[in-house]
Amino acid sequence: MENRAQFGSRAGFIFAAVGSAIGLGNIWRFPAVAYDNGGGAFFLPYLFALLTAGIPLLILEFAIGHKYRGSAPLSLARVKRGGEWIGWWQICISFVIATYYAVIIAWALAYTYFSFKLDWGKDTTNFLIADYLKVGDTASMGSFVPGVLIPLLLVWIITLGILFAGVKKGIEVATKIMIPLLVVLFTIIVIRALTLNGAIEGLNQFFKPEWSSLMNGKVWVAAYGQIFFSLSIGFAIMITYSSYLPKKSDITNSAFITGFANSGFELLAGFGVFAALGFMAAQQGVPVDEVVKGGVLLAFSVFPTIINELPAFNQAFGILFFVSLTLAGLTSLISITETYVAGIQEKFNVSRKMAVSVGGGLTAIISLAFATQNGLNLLDVADYFINQFGVAMAGLFEVIFIAWFAKQLKPLQAHADSVSDIRLGAWWRISLSVITPIVLGYMMYDNLRQNLVGDYGGGDYPREFLFKYGWTVALGAIFVGVLFTIKPWKGHALELPVSRNEKEVS
Ligand code: ALA
Repeated sequence: MENRAQFGSRAGFIFAAVGSAIGLGNIWRFPAVAYDNGGGAFFLPYLFALLTAGIPLLILEFAIGHKYRGSAPLSLARVKRGGEWIGWWQICISFVIATYYAVIIAWALAYTYFSFKLDWGKDTTNFLIADYLKVGDTASMGSFVPGVLIPLLLVWIITLGILFAGVKKGIEVATKIMIPLLVVLFTIIVIRALTLNGAIEGLNQFFKPEWSSLMNGKVWVAAYGQIFFSLSIGFAIMITYSSYLPKKSDITNSAFITGFANSGFELLAGFGVFAALGFMAAQQGVPVDEVVKGGVLLAFSVFPTIINELPAFNQAFGILFFVSLTLAGLTSLISITETYVAGIQEKFNVSRKMAVSVGGGLTAIISLAFATQNGLNLLDVADYFINQFGVAMAGLFEVIFIAWFAKQLKPLQAHADSVSDIRLGAWWRISLSVITPIVLGYMMYDNLRQNLVGDYGGGDYPREFLFKYGWTVALGAIFVGVLFTIKPWKGHALELPVSRNEKEVS
């Protein structure tokens, strides 16, 4: 008899799924990835990846979780025994991501505090690197940085506290509060950014298409990578979340809502960030491309500079921006951590509280490495490798497994159609069984080749460092995934449970 935790309503599930999708990837990653990969022209590979891989995979993951009612390894093992390791691999990827993702949220928390007095001063890059993170060289870990350590502990207390409370009382309640709040706060920032002097030049720069970039394989890998990271697919997350859906819940519609809400927010972030960059360039009298920076520097160095230069309410906008980043990050971190909480709970037959303590506790301890003086270097390398050779690749294996080995696309389509308003057509099966494997498979091959020929960072990092914290982490996720698969399941775990009180939720 099934005794599985459930979301209280479909809306609760959608909030949780959208909360997972909208994260640091939307605010911190998307604008810079788009800009670096052809600006306006990036939208073509982005849309292609969204429509042929992103949304179809989201529907697939929702259908798998909903039909097989387990964490990613259990659900995939129920599809066919040989799929379990892919689920564990995805969980290991999530585990690695959680260790550094939490650290970026910790920085955002610290910067919320700094916003009250604009503590970062005029030279915001120097403040970030030297005064705040106290970055050392790659040779040693250096000491702990208290300004990172303290908020990091706070991030874990909040995240694990919510997970302790459970799916309905923890995840659902938290995301139902945090996501609407995030949308309101972030919209205020974007409206302000769009009304600043120079905003139009920023947007022109963002949308100016660099058509030649479409011929570059790396641009397509970047688009797929962004879609997978941003939609939280290939992470084990969406399978886990949909396994908590009441039986009669619409799947396909929920996937479209989640996908478009996420891309809509991503676009909103792109508008906001580039309008603000246009303003900053105008203030400094330089072209926009001179002020664009990616990743960490964009959020924690460029934004503080923009906040300094605003005509009024500087502190308030600083707080709004960093609280938004914190909220977006927390709702995603909760979902990333839930993947291995569910996996541990099922495989080792332990209580949820035990799984949260062991799984969450272990991630929290490992994440402390990123609170050292070497944290920024570690984070940069781990993030690059786990994304290049993790998320999208695990998604590719998942699709190939379901479509070609287990041959489950038609049954899963029938399952989704049986509960959804929108019926899936052949486009869904063709996208997953032909287009995604060919396009993504070729991209992955080409990407691997390019990374083997030239080192990441173009010499910024010693080879040994890349090997230890990049390649080993990415390959280690596969290895550990396989190890977990070796342990047998207890009792009748692989059989599909029969539900008793099937709730009807439209
Ligand atoms: N989907 C999450 C993000 O975009 C992981 O940050």
